Amino acid sequence: MRILILHGPNLNLLGRREPETYGHRTLADIDQQLAESASAAGCNVESFQSNAEHAIVDRIQQAMDDDTDGIVINPAAFTHTSVALRDALAAAGLPFVEVHLTNPDARETFRQRSLLADLAVGRVSGFGPHSYLLGLDGLIKKLQRTASE
Ligand code: DQA
Repeated sequence: MRILILHGPNLNLLGRREPETYGHRTLADIDQQLAESASAAGCNVESFQSNAEHAIVDRIQQAMDDDTDGIVINPAAFTHTSVALRDALAAAGLPFVEVHLTNPDARETFRQRSLLADLAVGRVSGFGPHSYLLGLDGLIKKLQRTASE
């Protein structure tokens, strides 16, 4: 099973970016933990981060043709703004889980709207880096169930 992990804008700064909000763990740490967790479940993960909306759209389109089975995405600020990302995920038709380090529903009003949430198979937020691990685990179990049906 092949899972794509997508990280949106400013997540490359994790560890240095508002640590009181986003914690001290770097993106490299998170990606390494995801790779270990996936490999323990017999899955492959590839991680991709970009600050550019078009680069994430391009990577989602690529996933339509590279045997990707599902996506774990932290769209970061694009969660709240990007019709392009929503359209790309809808076009790809791959199951995806939306994850957030913080709980956007408990933050500013503009963060309380996700343009992706209704397309997602699930959403995990508020658990720091553990949100990614929970999202990955949920997606793998969902894909395994679908494969055995
Ligand atoms: C975030 C929440 C977003 O509102 C914010 O723009 C981010 C990070 C999170 O992981 O908590 O960049 O997606």
